[in-house]
Amino acid sequence: MTVLLVIFIFHFTIHQPYSPVSASDPDPIQDYCLPSPHPHQCKNSSSLTVDDFIFSGIKHPGKFTDKFSGVPVSAAVFPALNTLGMSLVRADFKAGGINVPHYHPRATELAYVVEGRVYSGFVDTQNRVFARVIEKGEVMVYPRGVLHFQMNVGDSPATVVGSFDSQNPGSVKLPGALFGSGIKDELLEKAFGLKGKEIEKLKKRFGMKKEDN
Ligand SMILES: *[C@@H]1O[C@H](CO)[C@@H](O)[C@H](O)[C@H]1NC(C)=O
Repeated sequence: MTVLLVIFIFHFTIHQPYSPVSASDPDPIQDYCLPSPHPHQCKNSSSLTVDDFIFSGIKHPGKFTDKFSGVPVSAAVFPALNTLGMSLVRADFKAGGINVPHYHPRATELAYVVEGRVYSGFVDTQNRVFARVIEKGEVMVYPRGVLHFQMNVGDSPATVVGSFDSQNPGSVKLPGALFGSGIKDELLEKAFGLKGKEIEKLKKRFGMKKEDN
């Protein structure tokens, strides 16, 4: 009885905090599953070659906008990742470039600095910011669903590779989600204490056409 009680307590004090209900990508039920044109089916493996399992799209930086380039390597562009529960992103920064505050609803991210010096951080749900400059070879973790950001503070280019525990982490970029999505001006004005004209400016900057809500 005592032994059982000890096991019980051990189980619930030690293990329970680390074993909540499963909320990540499901475990695969086959070696791999490259999606076939038929819905919910995998390609016949006899049609696959090694090249199906290699992605060459991040040998070089992607297209830059505002000194920043981010290239996701998710299952959408690298179908071999389908069902495997992980993916990557390559991020390149020119001097001063930023990766705007954003979060990944479906994945924790491990960011590894391949080159450069990057101010990197996240904000927890108490609005506590955990941020500092990390440099080549250092790794920072951003917990799932938590707002995070990066900025190249060196005077040369920086490269970061992020890995995710989801084949499709998703990315919600705050500036665009708020000012490029079509939320009514009135709400944004109230939320941010801004005037209509200021909202218009932000909406223009983040890709919204003139007043289409
Ligand atoms: C996969 O393709 C091979 C060769 O074309 C064929 O013999 C096999 O029956 C196929 N398997 C399935 C599950 O369709």
